[in-house]
Amino acid sequence: MFDWFTTTGSEQETLKLGKQIGRLIEQPTLILLQGDLGAGKTVLARGIARGLGVSEQTPITSPTFTLMNHYPARLDLYHFDLYRLSDPDELVELGFDEFAHGSGVSLVEWPERLEDRGFERLRVKLRREDELRRQLRFDARGRACREFLQRLAGRVV
Ligand SMILES: Nc1ncnc2c1ncn2[C@@H]1O[C@H](COP(=O)(O)OP(=O)(O)O)[C@@H](O)[C@H]1O
Ligand SMILES: [Mg+2]
Repeated sequence: MFDWFTTTGSEQETLKLGKQIGRLIEQPTLILLQGDLGAGKTVLARGIARGLGVSEQTPITSPTFTLMNHYPARLDLYHFDLYRLSDPDELVELGFDEFAHGSGVSLVEWPERLEDRGFERLRVKLRREDELRRQLRFDARGRACREFLQRLAGRVV
């Protein structure tokens, strides 16, 4: 496992980091976003979406009531928020596994609601340090995700 961490001092910085991530993504990737409410998961997701080419005109908000939003982009983006998931069968109905292994980028807020089935993934744990500062810890599982994280860590100073 390879891990890396960084901190941001504002929402703008988290957005920028997300954009860098989005721009670097070249292949289908599963990204898990963990952290309490207000940690910045959706802000990071918004940045990733912009980096993948989702227009600034398109609002990126938590898909709380729909579980998943789809945004066509350079690679299709599927944004999940499992906070309100009550029954794991809902995910089966949605075909979650196909997204997890699919041809697009899947971002998952509240992945703790999923059982860990060993998917290769990039995980980000976000922690609120104070009003504006957030700590972001990344870890990768699987060769492609590890290589991606190494590239990201080399790019972001
Ligand atoms: N460094 C930071 N990075 C991200 N968000 C920040 C930061 N500092 C303050 N914020 C604020 O924290 C909140 C994060 O909200 P959001 O991304 O919706 O959280 P989550 O999806 O984790 O519940 C926003 O109101 C944002 O303005
Ligand atoms: Mg959110």
